[in-house]
Amino acid sequence: MVLEADDGEPEERHNYSDKSDLMLDTLDDIGPTTKGFLEQAGFKSIKDLVVRGPVDVSEATGMQLDKSVYICNKARSKLEEIGIIEKSFTKATILYEKRKNEERISTGSKNLDDLFGGGIETRAITEIYGEYGTGKTQLCHTLCVIVNLDKPQGGLKAGALYIDTENTFRPERIVSIAQARNLDADRILDNVLVAKAYNSAHQELIIEQTGPVIDANGIKLIVVDSMVAHYRAEFLGRSTLSERQQKLNKFMHILLRIAATYGVAVLATNQIQSSPDSIFGDPFRPIGGHVVAHTSTYRVYLKRSGKNRIARMVDSPYHPEREVLFTLAESGVEDPV
Ligand SMILES: Nc1ncnc2c1ncn2[C@@H]1O[C@H](COP(=O)(O)OP(=O)(O)OP(=O)(O)O)[C@@H](O)[C@H]1O
Ligand SMILES: [Mg+2]
Repeated sequence: MVLEADDGEPEERHNYSDKSDLMLDTLDDIGPTTKGFLEQAGFKSIKDLVVRGPVDVSEATGMQLDKSVYICNKARSKLEEIGIIEKSFTKATILYEKRKNEERISTGSKNLDDLFGGGIETRAITEIYGEYGTGKTQLCHTLCVIVNLDKPQGGLKAGALYIDTENTFRPERIVSIAQARNLDADRILDNVLVAKAYNSAHQELIIEQTGPVIDANGIKLIVVDSMVAHYRAEFLGRSTLSERQQKLNKFMHILLRIAATYGVAVLATNQIQSSPDSIFGDPFRPIGGHVVAHTSTYRVYLKRSGKNRIARMVDSPYHPEREVLFTLAESGVEDPV
């Protein structure tokens, strides 16, 4: 078999809102019985299959793993074929060109945007962690407003999905940030979908149902505030650690595949814990251990600095480790005066 590399030939980038060719029937070799099983288990489209992966498909439908691997590989190839995800063998030149056009959402602060190389990136998970009151939730609200703006103003003319696990989403804060920026608050409120997650199992259910919601509502930003709170509260002690990490791992990998498959930006907040073994340096570290550390694409640490806040890029595949200053105002995240 000859593997065709993506050489960047004219192939038009696919229109994400065109769903007609992504339903299950368009996969060859899927009979009506299999299709019925998949639909009954909640898999409606090819993207759903790619996001959830073969193990999940097999568990949810009861079909043999070999068969679900075959179906998921077919689904992946289909998305590669129409340019929604990268082909398995793609020249770095092509990736470089695509990376230059990767969409980003402004944070509201030029300093912070610079730290991220132009704003929060789509197709990636950006993790923000820091002590209470450092502005994590403020940043989440500000981005929900800014994503609505046109591209020259820093947005993507798109909506946001806010997964709220700490019960700190406030629609009135969306209104005050929008008004302070002279924007139409009603229109923006209408473009922010909120999913309150009451426990970790509910949080997992929400993420599994997210795919079709993204397409139906033109969403380009998913906020998870916070991704770890329920896991931290529910799985106490060493004996439950491995179960907690396993569940968190699955949640984050679905999130990462959603980012890549649907072309959305994911902003996830994390809490911190004090690390008693730290003799030098900062005594705080983010929750979630290696699972969260390895799955987040970018990690940013927020700290207080008088009235301002410091954001430090602590892990990125291509940004240097450095710090910038920003501040919190009525208009949300801003540059210090
Ligand atoms: N309308 C406003 N105008 C200016 N600053 C505000 C406004 N609302 C909130 N803030 C600032 O935001 C801070 C709270 O930040 P935020 O809720 O984002 O913290 P957090 O990092 O999410 O904390 P936690 O870990 O508790 O969730 C307040 O202490 C205040 O400084
Ligand atoms: Mg918060």
